[in-house]
Amino acid sequence: MRPEKIKVGIVGLGLVSASHYKGYAGHPGAEVTAVCDLEGERAERFASAFGIPQVYTSYDEMLEKAHIDVVDIATPTFLHVPMTVKAARAGKHIHCEKPFCRSVGEGLTACQAVRESGVKLVVSESYVFITSRMKARQLIEAGEIGRPLQVRQRLGPWIERERPVAHIRPAERTWRLDAEKSGGGEYPWIFDHVVHFFATAEYLMPGEVVSEVYAVTSTVHGTARAGARHDPYSTAAIDIPIYTWKYENPDCQGLWARAERLNGKYDYMRGFSTTIIGDRGVIEVLGEGGHNLLWDGRQQHLILHRESKEPVCFRFDEGGDDVWDSDICYYSQGHISSTRHLIDCIRQDTQPRYSGEDGVHAVQCALAVILSAQRGRPVRIGEVDPDYTAYAK
Ligand SMILES: NC(=O)c1ccc[n+]([C@@H]2O[C@H](COP(=O)([O-])OP(=O)(O)OC[C@H]3O[C@@H](n4cnc5c(N)ncnc54)[C@H](O)[C@@H]3O)[C@@H](O)[C@H]2O)c1
Repeated sequence: MRPEKIKVGIVGLGLVSASHYKGYAGHPGAEVTAVCDLEGERAERFASAFGIPQVYTSYDEMLEKAHIDVVDIATPTFLHVPMTVKAARAGKHIHCEKPFCRSVGEGLTACQAVRESGVKLVVSESYVFITSRMKARQLIEAGEIGRPLQVRQRLGPWIERERPVAHIRPAERTWRLDAEKSGGGEYPWIFDHVVHFFATAEYLMPGEVVSEVYAVTSTVHGTARAGARHDPYSTAAIDIPIYTWKYENPDCQGLWARAERLNGKYDYMRGFSTTIIGDRGVIEVLGEGGHNLLWDGRQQHLILHRESKEPVCFRFDEGGDDVWDSDICYYSQGHISSTRHLIDCIRQDTQPRYSGEDGVHAVQCALAVILSAQRGRPVRIGEVDPDYTAYAK
């Protein structure tokens, strides 16, 4: 007898929710049967657009009344932990967006509720679920570059597609600038994005753990600028254009540098890209919004360089991105893969490869960057107190 489909309820129907929906809708063992948003009209429109039977404006009511097995949390960051705890206590499996929490302490509380309820939790760290990165990890684990020793991350401008595919976004997205709701204090952009970069810094250095960070702060040259049309961010008064990190293994280290319109700089290399240096080779790989990794005058998505061998180039043509003018399919392949990963973990009773604890660790690293900027010195990850928040007065 064909097993029952796993029923999913999505709460928070903003920018990222449509990418999540695609994940479940395209999985043979899952279906989205309920949606919830504070904005009733938005929830109705989403439900009728995708033919979803149950519509709610109250999360508690959806948990109580909807016949669902999984809750997909795509609400603003300050709601992730309270909604995860409620879902776990209601016996629902969880797919929760990043940043998973705003402090280590609140994150660990959610992990405990998940453990006690025996449900599965995947934190939607889409950066470790995109095809180009998974290929890079595979090559590294196959020993193609020898021992990976150094990571260099570069963030250039994110350029939008002429006509983004993503469905209508809420007009009101100022939570992203709010010190407490975003969790970022005076660094909301940094907090919201740096969790991605640290997840990548560990994913592409198998077995290595970040132990210390140092943030370089800077004033921003020139006039304030706006970022991507769909985001409310503008140039910050104090920027963190560069930060470095050490791993517990003293042979290994990394750096991240940002040059794009929001911090008054130019770079021809678009979006996010990572270079992994080994003792016998190098991998260059594009990520979110990536473009202009060239070899032989052609656009590449990943290049493998090995000592005294011809470089090997890779492209992962998955139809391009729904939001960015980039061949790398981040919106929505990254999100599609993380949602389907949860469904597979439930059906096969396997452990998620990006868990709540991983989400808490990435937040701890991001908070260490902000603490380092505040204190003007290197900060060990372990120094980040469980109750420390970036918005604490
Ligand atoms: N992994 C990624 O690439 C990625 C991309 C974008 C956003 N995100 C994360 O996803 C989360 C959502 O971001 P977004 O950009 O989609 O936000 P958004 O502002 O576009 O949408 C949030 C939605 O949540 C709804 N909402 C707010 N409070 C609610 C409540 N109590 N109950 C029900 N609905 C509620 C709002 O009405 C809105 O429709 C954030 O944590 C963000 O960091 C991750």
